[in-house]
Amino acid sequence: MEFPSYVGSMRGRSFLNTNDFTRDEIEEVLRASRDLRERFRHRMPTPYLSGKTLFMLFYNRSLRTRNSFEAGMFQLGGHAHFLSPQDVYTPTLPEDMIPYQTESIADVARVLSRYGDAIAIRIYGDAAKWHIGRGHRVIQEFAKWSSIPVLNMEDDLYHPFQALADIMTITDVALNPSGKKFVVSYAYSGGLKPLAVPQSCILIGTMFGMDVVLAQPKGFELEDQVIRACRENVDRYGGSFTIVNDMRTAFEGADFVYPKAWSPKVFFPPHNGRVDKEGAVEYQNRFKDWICNQELMDLTNRGKYMHCGPADRGQEVTDDVIDNPRYSLYFEQAENRLHVQKAVMSMVLG
Ligand code: CP
Repeated sequence: MEFPSYVGSMRGRSFLNTNDFTRDEIEEVLRASRDLRERFRHRMPTPYLSGKTLFMLFYNRSLRTRNSFEAGMFQLGGHAHFLSPQDVYTPTLPEDMIPYQTESIADVARVLSRYGDAIAIRIYGDAAKWHIGRGHRVIQEFAKWSSIPVLNMEDDLYHPFQALADIMTITDVALNPSGKKFVVSYAYSGGLKPLAVPQSCILIGTMFGMDVVLAQPKGFELEDQVIRACRENVDRYGGSFTIVNDMRTAFEGADFVYPKAWSPKVFFPPHNGRVDKEGAVEYQNRFKDWICNQELMDLTNRGKYMHCGPADRGQEVTDDVIDNPRYSLYFEQAENRLHVQKAVMSMVLG
C-alpha cells in the first residue's frame, strides 16, 4: 500500500514534548489523526508500518497508553514489543535511579536501535524516585543514544501524546479553539500524581491560542520552565495565560475544564532536600474541596469536562459530571489517544 502523504517533515524525529514540534506540525498530526480515525471507524486497512517494531518500556503501569500504542501499532501493520523494568537494565544515568546493575541506558538504546524502529518510554513517580525531572532526563538520555525515534509515553514533566489527544478532542468540539477559555485546575486525589498532564495541557492550550487559566492551591505551582514556555507560546500564538488560586473563579465562563490532581512539588527534590511523600499527602489532604461537581460545571459557559484518565471518582470529580454525556469528553479523549499515536508513529517511523 502506498504511504499516505502526511509523513512530511517528521520522519525520524523523537517526540518528548509538544513544544518539540511546531504548531503547523501538530496541525498536520491532527489532520493525519482524523484521517486514521475515519479509516479505523470504517475498518479500512492502514498497513503503513508493515514490518516495523516499536519497543515499549513501561516503568509504570498503564491502561490507555499501553493498549492504544499496542493496538495502534498492530492496526498499522507493525509490532509493539512490551518491556517492563526487569527486562531493561539501566543503572547508570542519571545518578542511581534504576536499581539494576548490568546495562547502561546508552547500551540499551543502542542495542534496541539495531532491532527495531522506535523506542517508547513511560517513567515517573516512584520509578524516577520522585526527583522531579529525573524521568524526563532518562528519556532524553535514551534519545541521545538511540538512532531510532524515542517517544515519551509520560514522564515526570510531560505527557505529549495525552496533550495531542486533548487538543484533538477540543478541536473536534471547537473548530477554532482561539479565544476559548480552557481551565486546567488542580483537583484533589489521595494519591501522588506527576506534573506531566497539567504541564502538557497548558503547553498545548497556549500553543493553540486559547485563553488558558491555571487554577491551583498554593504549593501546587508547576515548573518554572513550563510557565515560561506557556508565556512564550502566548507571545507567538496569541490567547492568554493566567494563574489563579481559586477553582470557582476559574470555572466562571469556561468553555473547557480539565480538573486533575498533581502533587505539591515543594515536597520533592530539586525543590526540597529530600523526598517527603508523607508530607505531600498530608498537605494535599487539606484540599479535598477541590472537586469538580455539578455546581462548578453550572458556572461554566456550557463547558466541557475533560480528564486524561484514570480519574479518581469521588475525589477529583463526581460521577454525575464525568458520566454526563452532554459535557463529559472523558471517553473521547481516551479514544483519541489511539488516533494521535497512530498518526505520530506513521509520521516519524514511516
Ligand atoms: N492517560 C493515561 O496516560 O492513561 P494510562 O495511565 O491508563 O495510560
